[in-house]
Amino acid sequence: MVALMDSAAWRSDGPDLVVLGDNLEFLAGLPDGAFSLIYIDPPFNTGRRQARQTLRTIRHADGDRVGFKGASYQTIREAVSAYDDAFADYWEFLEPRLVQAWRLLSDDGTLYLHLDYREVHYAKVVLDGLFGRDCFLNEIIWAYDYGAKARRKWPAKHDNILVYVKNPDSYYFDNSAVDREPYMAPGLVTAEKAAKGKLPTDVWWHTIVSPTGKEKTGYPTQKPEGVLRRIVQASSREGDWVLDFFAGSGTTGAVASKLSRRFVMVDNNPEAFKVMRSRLGDGGLLSQVQYLNLPSSHQHRPAV
Ligand SMILES: C[S@@+](CC[C@H](N)C(=O)[O-])C[C@H]1O[C@@H](n2cnc3c(N)ncnc32)[C@H](O)[C@@H]1O
Repeated sequence: MVALMDSAAWRSDGPDLVVLGDNLEFLAGLPDGAFSLIYIDPPFNTGRRQARQTLRTIRHADGDRVGFKGASYQTIREAVSAYDDAFADYWEFLEPRLVQAWRLLSDDGTLYLHLDYREVHYAKVVLDGLFGRDCFLNEIIWAYDYGAKARRKWPAKHDNILVYVKNPDSYYFDNSAVDREPYMAPGLVTAEKAAKGKLPTDVWWHTIVSPTGKEKTGYPTQKPEGVLRRIVQASSREGDWVLDFFAGSGTTGAVASKLSRRFVMVDNNPEAFKVMRSRLGDGGLLSQVQYLNLPSSHQHRPAV
């Protein structure tokens, strides 16, 4: 009941929102189809330490947990559960939140799920099941080159961002709104083209947040605004509502606000709430920001 009351604090004509509390509890009270864009960057280590319920493979026709399009992710999840306990817990945690993401997307909306090489292949199967394979738009590779390098294998220096749309026939996407990037070999194109730059592909070279730069908030898993900027520019319009329910330092909200979009940020870590308060302030010309502290936030266990 509390969740429904608190989520009712959101109105499409109300202020931008920053929420401290468990995202599942909060999301459950938001109305269907409210968001044009959802970006999430969930932690791998969710802090959950509980006895795992083994999920049995069952035929889809009899299953009670099939995806919206009835695909085979149950079987895959069973296989993953058998392989790795921590992973099984992770998907028990993440899957209901992805179901909410699907529900909350507008018909022309898009989900960006930011992961790395450890989870992305399983996530692809889960999301194919939830959204439908035809709703898969891209796998974006965010490549960077920073930090220690493994010597016994190729150093992993990229993240993976899976992009799914609610409706493959009517989703919004405008790559002409995205900042262009320099050609790798400008000598091979005309001077005019070289000056204009090229449209980004699904491989994005971008530095991490510089430890000494002005973008740095001090929050450990902060993502660069440049990466979010492309996402927000391509997959939302001015005035659209953008949701990030693993918000951390509020990078998505900061970018959304700079690009005249509306935002709802949710995180259950009081430190994240504090960082967002100072980063997002009282709002700008477009909207005030309302800060909401859910009762569940008092049971928080940090997992960033
Ligand atoms: C990888 S960080 C996100 C970083 C963010 N993209 C940024 O740029 O700062 C993941 C966040 O999810 C939050 N989180 C984990 N479980 C949560 C839950 N159940 N409800 C809300 N937030 C949660 C953590 O507190 C953490 O801040």
